[in-house]
Amino acid sequence: MTRSLTHSVGITATGQFYPERIVTNKDIAAMVDTTDEWITTRTGIHQRRWVEPGVGSSDLGAAALKMALANRGVGADTLDAIVACTVTPDMMFPCTAALIQDKVGASKAYGFDLNAACSSFLFGLSTAAAMVASGAVQRVAVVGCDVMTSIMNPQDRNTVVLFGDGAGAVIVERVEEGYGILDFENRVDGSGAPYLCMPAGGSRKPASAETVAAGEHYIHQQGQEVFKNAVREMAEVSRLMLDRNGVDPKDLGLFIPHQANHRIMEAAAKRLELPAERMANNITQYANTTSATLPTALHQSLEAGKVKKGDYIVFAAFGAGFTWGGMLMKWAY
Ligand code: UT7
Repeated sequence: MTRSLTHSVGITATGQFYPERIVTNKDIAAMVDTTDEWITTRTGIHQRRWVEPGVGSSDLGAAALKMALANRGVGADTLDAIVACTVTPDMMFPCTAALIQDKVGASKAYGFDLNAACSSFLFGLSTAAAMVASGAVQRVAVVGCDVMTSIMNPQDRNTVVLFGDGAGAVIVERVEEGYGILDFENRVDGSGAPYLCMPAGGSRKPASAETVAAGEHYIHQQGQEVFKNAVREMAEVSRLMLDRNGVDPKDLGLFIPHQANHRIMEAAAKRLELPAERMANNITQYANTTSATLPTALHQSLEAGKVKKGDYIVFAAFGAGFTWGGMLMKWAY
């Protein structure tokens, strides 16, 4: 699917939230048969944040959204809608957006959840942008929040090293003409479903004593298959964003790829001929936070003064489904 926005719409503020508890590679090596060296060289991850028991995605998402609203200088009651992007909702229902709405006091907003795995935030952002461009709503919050520890098998070294908990939020509204989201491309290929999934706990295989004993309520991943698809598709869709809009890679201010593995990110950046300093990187400190990787990496780049008005930014994501996509923005503030 390609974009067709009738008005200039973009991000006008960002926020983030991580739990306090830092878990290092050394801590993980005390849990499963792995080493700091293996994790660092194979993934680029040095540490991650994990929640304490009882904390849900809505808690992280609400805190990130409060920061985004404060940075925008507006109250929660000015929001028209909340799109909560997550693969780890607090519960099957009600939706996490409803819980966030209550926590931030967004008294006039409606909301819903969007799950496209690691592409959730990107799909949520393009959806929110289309909602605003249509004129139906004026101000939408897109919140990427995940408690990945809730679906990670603490005894599986293939996955326990990879993920962290966290949340990022952005405010989406009309911006100056010619700025904001210039283009996007969202894709899905469901034949990739077996390679990365949580087999039980849904309608086809409801949770039971057997599914829990078999560990089917945890993430199951065939890493190499996901890896090679992620490199190819993130690079291709990013290149498409540039080519379709006549932007030379050397004029790209910032490349923000989904933070799943530093080797995937580097390979995608290399195919775009981008130097490492123009690629956002927070995987080293926070690991893969799924729906939160893009908004937190953007927020941190803004805080570090790496983005100025008029800069071109490309988002790229790839995740379970398979789902993937890219977005080109011209920074609006
Ligand atoms: O965000 C959603 C999308 N997800 C991704 O994009 C993840 C994509 N995949 C990856 O990032 C990588 O495939 C992984 C990091 C998951 C794995 O790295 P890899 O280089 O593909 O390793 P591998 O699966 O081919 O495993 C290589 C070896 C195996 O041992 P043998 O069979 O060669 O003896 C694994 O058993 O590494 C072993 N291994 C480990 N060793 C130490 C796997 N996990 C670990 C570990 N510590 N944690």
